[in-house]
Amino acid sequence: MKITVVGAGNVGTTCATEMAEKEIAEEIILVDIKEGITKGKALDIWQASAIQSFDTRVEGVSNDYEATKDSDVVVITAGLPRKPGMSRDDLIHTNALIVKEVTENIVKYSPDAILIVVSNPLDVMTYAAFLASKKSSSRVFGMAGILDTARYKSFLASELNISPKSIHAILMGGHGDSMVPLPRYTTVAGIPVNELISSEKLNSIIERTKKGGTELVNLMGTSAWYAPGAAAAQMAEAIVKNSRRVFPVCAALNGEYGLKDLHLGVPVVLGKNGIEKIIELKLNGEEMKMVRESAKQVKELMKILDDMNIFPEKFGDKNPVLH
Ligand code: LAC
Repeated sequence: MKITVVGAGNVGTTCATEMAEKEIAEEIILVDIKEGITKGKALDIWQASAIQSFDTRVEGVSNDYEATKDSDVVVITAGLPRKPGMSRDDLIHTNALIVKEVTENIVKYSPDAILIVVSNPLDVMTYAAFLASKKSSSRVFGMAGILDTARYKSFLASELNISPKSIHAILMGGHGDSMVPLPRYTTVAGIPVNELISSEKLNSIIERTKKGGTELVNLMGTSAWYAPGAAAAQMAEAIVKNSRRVFPVCAALNGEYGLKDLHLGVPVVLGKNGIEKIIELKLNGEEMKMVRESAKQVKELMKILDDMNIFPEKFGDKNPVLH
Protein backbone atom coordinates (compact mmCIF):
# COMPACT_ATOMS: atom_id res chain seq x y z
CA MET A 1 0.00 0.00 0.00
CA LYS A 2 1.08 3.53 -0.77
CA ILE A 3 -0.54 6.58 0.80
CA THR A 4 0.05 10.20 -0.13
CA VAL A 5 -0.65 13.11 2.18
CA VAL A 6 -0.93 16.46 0.44
CA GLY A 7 -0.05 19.34 2.74
CA ALA A 8 2.83 19.17 5.22
CA GLY A 9 1.12 21.45 7.72
CA ASN A 10 0.08 20.40 11.19
CA VAL A 11 -2.86 18.22 10.11
CA GLY A 12 -0.99 16.53 7.25
CA THR A 13 2.08 15.70 9.30
CA THR A 14 0.02 14.46 12.26
CA CYS A 15 -1.94 12.23 9.89
CA ALA A 16 1.26 10.92 8.26
CA THR A 17 2.81 10.20 11.67
CA GLU A 18 -0.29 8.31 12.86
CA MET A 19 -0.41 6.22 9.70
CA ALA A 20 3.31 5.44 9.86
CA GLU A 21 3.05 4.40 13.52
CA LYS A 22 0.09 2.17 12.69
CA GLU A 23 2.05 0.68 9.73
CA ILE A 24 -0.99 0.76 7.49
CA ALA A 25 1.12 1.27 4.35
CA GLU A 26 4.59 0.39 3.12
CA GLU A 27 5.14 3.91 1.93
CA ILE A 28 3.84 7.37 2.79
CA ILE A 29 4.62 10.35 0.56
CA LEU A 30 4.24 13.82 2.01
CA VAL A 31 3.87 16.49 -0.66
CA ASP A 32 3.71 20.26 -0.26
CA ILE A 33 4.92 23.33 -2.11
CA LYS A 34 7.38 24.16 0.66
CA GLU A 35 10.53 22.22 -0.12
CA GLY A 36 12.74 22.27 2.98
CA ILE A 37 9.92 21.95 5.50
CA THR A 38 8.29 19.04 3.68
CA LYS A 39 11.50 17.06 3.29
CA GLY A 40 12.52 17.90 6.85
CA LYS A 41 9.22 16.87 8.43
CA ALA A 42 9.14 13.59 6.48
CA LEU A 43 12.73 12.87 7.52
CA ASP A 44 11.89 13.68 11.14
CA ILE A 45 8.90 11.27 11.09
CA TRP A 46 11.07 8.59 9.46
CA GLN A 47 13.79 9.06 12.07
CA ALA A 48 11.20 8.27 14.76
CA SER A 49 10.77 4.82 13.15
CA ALA A 50 13.63 3.33 15.17
CA ILE A 51 12.08 4.61 18.39
CA GLN A 52 8.44 3.94 17.61
CA SER A 53 9.25 0.68 15.85
CA PHE A 54 7.60 1.07 12.48
CA ASP A 55 8.66 0.00 8.98
CA THR A 56 6.60 2.44 6.94
CA ARG A 57 8.90 4.54 4.77
CA VAL A 58 8.11 8.24 4.86
CA GLU A 59 9.36 10.56 2.17
CA GLY A 60 8.77 14.27 1.61
CA VAL A 61 8.66 15.87 -1.84
CA SER A 62 8.13 19.41 -3.03
CA ASN A 63 5.36 19.65 -5.61
CA ASP A 64 6.67 16.51 -7.34
CA TYR A 65 3.46 14.62 -8.05
CA GLU A 66 5.30 11.95 -10.01
CA ALA A 67 6.57 10.70 -6.65
CA THR A 68 2.95 10.12 -5.60
CA LYS A 69 2.33 7.80 -8.58
CA ASP A 70 0.08 4.80 -7.94
CA SER A 71 -1.03 5.82 -4.47
CA ASP A 72 -3.89 3.74 -3.12
CA VAL A 73 -5.20 6.45 -0.81
CA VAL A 74 -4.56 10.19 -0.86
CA VAL A 75 -5.33 12.50 2.06
CA ILE A 76 -5.76 16.12 0.95
CA THR A 77 -5.05 18.61 3.72
CA ALA A 78 -3.71 21.41 1.49
CA GLY A 79 -5.05 24.92 1.99
CA LEU A 80 -4.99 27.71 4.51
CA PRO A 81 -6.17 27.07 8.06
CA ARG A 82 -8.46 29.61 9.67
CA LYS A 83 -7.35 32.30 12.09
CA PRO A 84 -9.30 33.70 15.04
CA GLY A 85 -12.36 35.63 13.87
CA MET A 86 -12.59 33.66 10.61
CA SER A 87 -15.24 31.11 9.87
CA ARG A 88 -14.30 28.03 7.85
CA ASP A 89 -16.36 29.54 5.02
CA ASP A 90 -14.01 32.52 4.66
CA LEU A 91 -11.51 30.13 3.11
CA ILE A 92 -13.62 29.00 0.13
CA HIS A 93 -12.08 31.12 -2.60
CA THR A 94 -8.44 30.45 -1.74
CA ASN A 95 -8.76 26.83 -0.81
CA ALA A 96 -10.99 25.83 -3.74
CA LEU A 97 -8.26 26.79 -6.20
CA ILE A 98 -5.66 24.89 -4.17
CA VAL A 99 -7.83 21.78 -3.81
CA LYS A 100 -8.70 21.82 -7.52
CA GLU A 101 -5.04 21.96 -8.59
CA VAL A 102 -3.93 19.35 -6.07
CA THR A 103 -6.72 16.95 -7.04
CA GLU A 104 -5.97 17.25 -10.75
CA ASN A 105 -2.30 16.52 -10.10
CA ILE A 106 -3.12 13.56 -7.87
CA VAL A 107 -5.59 11.99 -10.30
CA LYS A 108 -3.09 12.36 -13.14
CA TYR A 109 -0.61 10.06 -11.40
CA SER A 110 -2.97 7.93 -9.27
CA PRO A 111 -6.19 7.51 -11.27
CA ASP A 112 -7.37 4.68 -9.02
CA ALA A 113 -6.70 6.34 -5.67
CA ILE A 114 -9.37 6.90 -3.06
CA LEU A 115 -9.35 10.54 -1.94
CA ILE A 116 -9.99 11.72 1.61
CA VAL A 117 -10.50 15.49 1.77
CA VAL A 118 -9.62 17.35 4.98
CA SER A 119 -9.25 20.95 3.73
CA ASN A 120 -11.78 23.53 4.92
CA PRO A 121 -14.55 24.45 4.51
CA LEU A 122 -14.80 20.70 4.46
CA ASP A 123 -18.11 19.99 2.75
CA VAL A 124 -17.43 22.43 -0.08
CA MET A 125 -13.82 21.30 -0.54
CA THR A 126 -15.02 17.70 -0.79
CA TYR A 127 -17.41 18.86 -3.51
CA ALA A 128 -14.51 20.70 -5.24
CA ALA A 129 -12.27 17.62 -5.12
CA PHE A 130 -15.12 15.47 -6.40
CA LEU A 131 -15.64 17.79 -9.39
CA ALA A 132 -11.91 18.10 -10.09
CA SER A 133 -11.33 14.35 -9.86
CA LYS A 134 -14.21 13.31 -12.15
CA LYS A 135 -14.29 10.12 -10.10
CA SER A 136 -17.20 8.25 -8.60
CA SER A 137 -18.33 9.95 -5.41
CA SER A 138 -17.87 6.68 -3.52
CA ARG A 139 -14.10 7.26 -3.98
CA VAL A 140 -13.92 10.97 -3.04
CA PHE A 141 -15.22 11.98 0.36
CA GLY A 142 -14.40 14.14 3.34
CA MET A 143 -13.25 13.83 6.94
CA ALA A 144 -15.24 15.81 9.49
CA GLY A 145 -17.73 13.53 11.20
CA ILE A 146 -15.11 11.41 12.97
CA LEU A 147 -13.52 14.57 14.35
CA ASP A 148 -16.79 16.18 15.42
CA THR A 149 -18.00 12.93 16.96
CA ALA A 150 -14.66 12.52 18.75
CA ARG A 151 -15.07 15.96 20.30
CA TYR A 152 -18.61 15.10 21.39
CA LYS A 153 -17.37 11.80 22.89
CA SER A 154 -14.45 13.46 24.67
CA PHE A 155 -16.75 16.03 26.31
CA LEU A 156 -19.15 13.27 27.38
CA ALA A 157 -16.27 11.18 28.71
CA SER A 158 -15.02 14.09 30.83
CA GLU A 159 -18.50 14.87 32.14
CA LEU A 160 -19.38 11.25 32.98
CA ASN A 161 -15.84 10.39 34.09
CA ILE A 162 -15.74 7.28 31.94
CA SER A 163 -13.53 6.09 29.10
CA PRO A 164 -14.23 7.70 25.71
CA LYS A 165 -13.83 4.16 24.32
CA SER A 166 -17.13 3.22 25.94
CA ILE A 167 -19.04 5.97 24.18
CA HIS A 168 -20.71 5.23 20.86
CA ALA A 169 -22.24 8.05 18.94
CA ILE A 170 -23.03 9.36 15.50
CA LEU A 171 -23.23 12.90 14.25
CA MET A 172 -24.56 14.16 10.95
CA GLY A 173 -24.65 17.29 8.80
CA GLY A 174 -22.07 19.82 7.67
CA HIS A 175 -18.75 20.59 9.37
CA GLY A 176 -19.86 23.85 10.93
CA ASP A 177 -22.17 25.26 13.53
CA SER A 178 -25.13 23.50 11.88
CA MET A 179 -23.71 20.02 12.53
CA VAL A 180 -26.20 17.63 14.10
CA PRO A 181 -25.07 15.52 17.08
CA LEU A 182 -27.67 12.80 17.66
CA PRO A 183 -28.28 12.02 21.37
CA ARG A 184 -30.86 9.35 20.43
CA TYR A 185 -27.99 7.47 18.78
CA THR A 186 -25.52 8.03 21.63
CA THR A 187 -24.86 5.24 24.10
CA VAL A 188 -22.43 4.40 26.85
CA ALA A 189 -21.64 0.74 26.22
CA GLY A 190 -25.19 0.33 24.93
CA ILE A 191 -26.85 2.37 27.71
CA PRO A 192 -28.80 5.31 26.21
CA VAL A 193 -26.84 8.41 27.19
CA ASN A 194 -29.88 10.26 28.52
CA GLU A 195 -30.12 7.67 31.33
CA LEU A 196 -26.75 8.92 32.58
CA ILE A 197 -26.78 12.66 32.02
CA SER A 198 -29.28 15.50 32.45
CA SER A 199 -30.72 16.98 29.27
CA GLU A 200 -29.32 20.35 30.33
CA LYS A 201 -25.75 19.00 30.52
CA LEU A 202 -26.20 17.07 27.29
CA ASN A 203 -27.42 20.18 25.49
CA SER A 204 -24.46 22.20 26.66
CA ILE A 205 -22.12 19.43 25.42
CA ILE A 206 -23.90 19.47 22.05
CA GLU A 207 -23.46 23.24 21.80
CA ARG A 208 -19.79 22.99 22.76
CA THR A 209 -19.29 20.26 20.13
CA LYS A 210 -20.78 22.44 17.40
CA LYS A 211 -18.23 25.13 18.21
CA GLY A 212 -15.43 22.69 18.99
CA GLY A 213 -13.21 23.89 16.13
CA THR A 214 -13.69 27.55 17.02
CA GLU A 215 -12.84 26.90 20.68
CA LEU A 216 -9.44 25.59 19.55
CA VAL A 217 -8.83 28.37 17.01
CA ASN A 218 -9.42 30.88 19.78
CA LEU A 219 -7.05 29.08 22.13
CA MET A 220 -4.24 28.46 19.64
CA GLY A 221 -4.58 31.17 17.00
CA THR A 222 -4.89 28.52 14.30
CA SER A 223 -7.02 25.44 13.75
CA ALA A 224 -6.61 22.08 15.41
CA TRP A 225 -4.43 19.21 14.20
CA TYR A 226 -4.08 16.26 16.59
CA ALA A 227 -7.67 15.05 16.43
CA PRO A 228 -8.18 16.06 12.77
CA GLY A 229 -4.98 14.23 11.73
CA ALA A 230 -5.90 11.13 13.74
CA ALA A 231 -9.41 11.14 12.27
CA ALA A 232 -8.15 11.18 8.68
CA ALA A 233 -5.68 8.40 9.52
CA GLN A 234 -8.53 6.32 10.94
CA MET A 235 -10.43 6.62 7.67
CA ALA A 236 -7.35 5.63 5.65
CA GLU A 237 -6.88 2.62 7.93
CA ALA A 238 -10.47 1.44 7.40
CA ILE A 239 -9.94 1.66 3.63
CA VAL A 240 -6.56 -0.06 3.36
CA LYS A 241 -7.58 -2.81 5.79
CA ASN A 242 -11.01 -3.12 4.17
CA SER A 243 -12.41 -3.21 7.68
CA ARG A 244 -15.93 -1.95 6.81
CA ARG A 245 -16.11 0.27 9.88
CA VAL A 246 -19.08 2.59 10.23
CA PHE A 247 -18.12 6.26 10.44
CA PRO A 248 -19.78 9.59 9.79
CA VAL A 249 -18.21 10.81 6.54
CA CYS A 250 -18.88 13.75 4.22
CA ALA A 251 -20.44 11.98 1.23
CA ALA A 252 -22.30 12.93 -1.92
CA LEU A 253 -26.01 12.33 -1.44
CA ASN A 254 -28.23 11.19 -4.25
CA GLY A 255 -31.66 10.87 -2.68
CA GLU A 256 -30.58 9.53 0.72
CA TYR A 257 -32.39 11.41 3.50
CA GLY A 258 -34.45 13.01 0.73
CA LEU A 259 -31.39 15.10 -0.23
CA LYS A 260 -29.67 15.32 -3.58
CA ASP A 261 -26.65 16.93 -5.22
CA LEU A 262 -24.78 17.91 -2.11
CA HIS A 263 -22.02 16.68 0.14
CA LEU A 264 -23.00 16.17 3.75
CA GLY A 265 -21.93 14.19 6.80
CA VAL A 266 -23.79 10.87 6.99
CA PRO A 267 -22.98 7.45 8.44
CA VAL A 268 -21.26 5.18 5.91
CA VAL A 269 -19.50 1.83 5.74
CA LEU A 270 -15.84 2.37 4.77
CA GLY A 271 -13.93 -0.37 2.99
CA LYS A 272 -11.54 -1.06 0.14
CA ASN A 273 -13.81 0.61 -2.41
CA GLY A 274 -14.18 3.73 -0.29
CA ILE A 275 -17.81 4.32 0.66
CA GLU A 276 -19.28 0.84 0.45
CA LYS A 277 -22.71 1.95 1.63
CA ILE A 278 -24.50 5.02 2.98
CA ILE A 279 -26.57 4.15 6.03
CA GLU A 280 -29.96 5.84 6.28
CA LEU A 281 -30.98 6.32 9.90
CA LYS A 282 -34.65 6.45 10.75
CA LEU A 283 -34.49 10.04 11.93
CA ASN A 284 -37.46 11.56 13.72
CA GLY A 285 -39.05 14.80 12.55
CA GLU A 286 -36.94 17.06 14.72
CA GLU A 287 -33.66 15.37 13.76
CA MET A 288 -34.58 15.47 10.08
CA LYS A 289 -35.36 19.15 10.37
CA MET A 290 -31.89 19.86 11.76
CA VAL A 291 -30.25 17.79 9.03
CA ARG A 292 -32.22 19.65 6.36
CA GLU A 293 -31.22 23.00 7.88
CA SER A 294 -27.57 21.93 7.83
CA ALA A 295 -27.98 20.75 4.21
CA LYS A 296 -29.43 24.14 3.32
CA GLN A 297 -26.40 25.92 4.78
CA VAL A 298 -23.98 23.62 2.94
CA LYS A 299 -25.88 24.19 -0.33
CA GLU A 300 -25.44 27.94 0.09
CA LEU A 301 -21.68 27.44 0.38
CA MET A 302 -21.64 25.08 -2.60
CA LYS A 303 -23.30 27.86 -4.57
CA ILE A 304 -20.29 30.12 -3.79
CA LEU A 305 -18.07 27.48 -5.36
CA ASP A 306 -20.40 27.12 -8.36
CA ASP A 307 -20.30 30.89 -8.82
CA MET A 308 -16.51 30.83 -8.97
CA ASN A 309 -17.04 28.92 -12.22
CA ILE A 310 -13.79 27.02 -11.95
CA PHE A 311 -15.49 23.81 -13.07
CA PRO A 312 -17.20 24.95 -16.28
CA GLU A 313 -17.61 21.37 -17.50
CA LYS A 314 -20.07 20.79 -14.65
CA PHE A 315 -22.53 22.94 -16.52
CA GLY A 316 -21.76 21.53 -19.98
CA ASP A 317 -22.76 18.25 -21.61
CA LYS A 318 -20.65 16.10 -19.38
CA ASN A 319 -22.20 16.68 -16.01
CA PRO A 320 -20.39 14.51 -13.53
CA VAL A 321 -22.78 11.90 -12.29
CA LEU A 322 -23.07 11.58 -8.56
CA HIS A 323 -22.59 7.87 -7.78
C1 LAC B 1 -11.56 21.83 13.16
C2 LAC B 1 -11.03 22.24 11.82
C3 LAC B 1 -9.86 21.40 11.41
O1 LAC B 1 -12.75 21.54 13.25
O2 LAC B 1 -12.03 22.24 10.87
O3 LAC B 1 -10.77 21.80 14.10
